[in-house]
Amino acid sequence: MTSPPRPERTPRLETTPQAEATPRPETTTTPAGRARGWEFWAPAYSGLEHLALGRRLERTREQVARMTAEVAAGAGFPSATGPGADTSAAPDSELPWLVPGVGNGRGLARLVAEMPGARFVALDSSPAMLRRARSRLAARGSTPPLAEVEWVQARLPGAPAAPGAPSPCLPPQVQGVVTSFFLDCFEPDTLGRVVRELEARVPPGGHWVVADLAAPETLPAGWRRVRQRALLWLLYRGFRATTDVSARRLPDLDGPFRGQGWERFRDEEGPEGMTRVTCWTRLGG
Ligand SMILES: C[S@@+](CC[C@H](N)C(=O)[O-])C[C@H]1O[C@@H](n2cnc3c(N)ncnc32)[C@H](O)[C@@H]1O
Repeated sequence: MTSPPRPERTPRLETTPQAEATPRPETTTTPAGRARGWEFWAPAYSGLEHLALGRRLERTREQVARMTAEVAAGAGFPSATGPGADTSAAPDSELPWLVPGVGNGRGLARLVAEMPGARFVALDSSPAMLRRARSRLAARGSTPPLAEVEWVQARLPGAPAAPGAPSPCLPPQVQGVVTSFFLDCFEPDTLGRVVRELEARVPPGGHWVVADLAAPETLPAGWRRVRQRALLWLLYRGFRATTDVSARRLPDLDGPFRGQGWERFRDEEGPEGMTRVTCWTRLGG
């Protein structure tokens, strides 16, 4: 039996730790001024998070990096095309991982440390966040030789030049996607568009690791559920007032994946149940 052709390799991306991120034209309407809110959050983001939540989100980022490294290594994970399927259907390990909403780079730094030699495309709409992420990685001396990172400044969802055409700001194929505390920014319709736009780059057998705050109803009744509701209420009030976050409440983060050509095969609780980390595999056509 002949193996299906391997996906075409994307050209190797330049490592640009010192260079400015490639700015891309905004293709969606930005609510006036509020997209710039992330610029103001950037210097205070880590400090405020630490004050309010301690190391809980940091521990979740560690969990994400471990899970992604395991997934990338491929050991013990189901093939997207079913039991006994030809493993050459798995994405080319030379392809980069896409990290949208990379923020100030704390999660990316952990990914780079866990996955030496892997390539990443880090995307964010905020130049200030990207600057911080770049200097974080440069300060650790981790790019290169540990990882190759391409920095992209763009706002999602973008509009492809023509229906079905790939958006020009991202590589045509990636090994997988890693989103931490990013998908919760979008109300359900926009979230669906973001996932559809990015998944078009994930070949069968590719993965999407999602880390986010847990829905309060998944926690047992009691103090933790009450705290989670209060936390989400405060965060959405704060972010909606100051940034272009379109969600009013935590969207159903499984919704865009469930029954849409993805299968969930990892679902882990984060510290104290405050966060949740899931991994989805893209099924074959
Ligand atoms: C809540 S922060 C999370 C950052 C990071 N992933 C972390 O773990 O700390 C959300 C990030 O997504 C970026 N962002 C928000 N909306 C975006 C959009 N529509 N397109 C691209 N980036 C966006 C923000 O600039 C911010 O850096």
